[in-house]
Amino acid sequence: MDDLRQKYLDAIAGAADEASLEDLRVQAVGKKGEVALKMRELGKMTPEERLVVGPKLNALKDEINSALAAKKAGLADKALDERLRTEWLDVTLPGRGRREGTIHPVSQVTEEVAAIFADMGFTVAEGPQIENDWYNFDALNIPPHHPARQEFDTFYMHRAADDDRPPHVLRTHTSPVQIREMEKTGAPIRVIAPGRVYRSDYDQTHTPMFHQIEGMAIGKDISMANLKWVLEEFFAAFFEIDGIKTRFRASHFPFTEPSAEVDIQCSWVDGQLRIGEGDDWMEVLGSGMMHPKVLQAGGVDPDKWQGFAFGMGIDRIAMLKYGIPDLRAFFDSDLRWLRHYGFSALDMPTLHGGLSR
Ligand code: PHE
Repeated sequence: MDDLRQKYLDAIAGAADEASLEDLRVQAVGKKGEVALKMRELGKMTPEERLVVGPKLNALKDEINSALAAKKAGLADKALDERLRTEWLDVTLPGRGRREGTIHPVSQVTEEVAAIFADMGFTVAEGPQIENDWYNFDALNIPPHHPARQEFDTFYMHRAADDDRPPHVLRTHTSPVQIREMEKTGAPIRVIAPGRVYRSDYDQTHTPMFHQIEGMAIGKDISMANLKWVLEEFFAAFFEIDGIKTRFRASHFPFTEPSAEVDIQCSWVDGQLRIGEGDDWMEVLGSGMMHPKVLQAGGVDPDKWQGFAFGMGIDRIAMLKYGIPDLRAFFDSDLRWLRHYGFSALDMPTLHGGLSR
């Protein structure tokens, strides 16, 4: 038994890896290993002999098992030491630079506008970009043969020859969200609705897709005066110019009566646009008191409620605020442009933290 003991303890001490340790385990203490064979011999012994040899064999088995475990742990430690020696890492090296993405001016300005209107109690809503012509036109008091339908340069969705459903369009403005929101929540209501709109038009100041923000406030005694105050508050906050001058020009939209287009004061100095000074005017939005037929189309009783609405070009006011000359570049996805005019992701606009960089 001592020979057996010595043989295995030596072999275990000399084992080079886990695989040879496993071989030794099977040979020594496995089911058919040498120790097991010795155990079998116990049956042929006298009870007295067995009383002496049995515990010794068990002790031998335990000793070999713990030698195996200790060696296994030793091998693992050695392997770890070896890895620590070869796979070291210099954590003081400077990191590899990574390009950061930027927030597109349209997204930034949308957030800025939402922050200002939220402060005046407006919530934010959205509507679908593919509309049916009822929401885009009829409900807004633009019946099928109204000339305003032509003015919009509408994109119509393709229809198969035998498909006689009423047409779907790419919405030409955010005004259909007025109807959808009235249907959803009824009056009173104060909501803005930013989003993409589409018209077939392309030059330095027009792209076939652009962005608008719709505003709507309905109450018992909402008037043009409230509209003017809200818009002036908005422009002062947005352009960060106290007392910025606005000009309300009488205009016409089928869905408002009376209607006004709104300009803000500006000037051109050496080809550069300056907001809030000089004696030029820049048109930035259409607005007015909601037409009774529009309230009715949204399920709001025009004998009880009245409201104002406006629609503003987001891209247009982004160009004005950040001095961006060409609208088309907004949608070219040119990385140089995006890096130049983009905003840091951490620059979330708020009224208390400031609306711009
Ligand atoms: N929907 C109009 C447009 O796109 C703007 C507008 C909205 C005018 C709401 C009045 C009221 O030109």
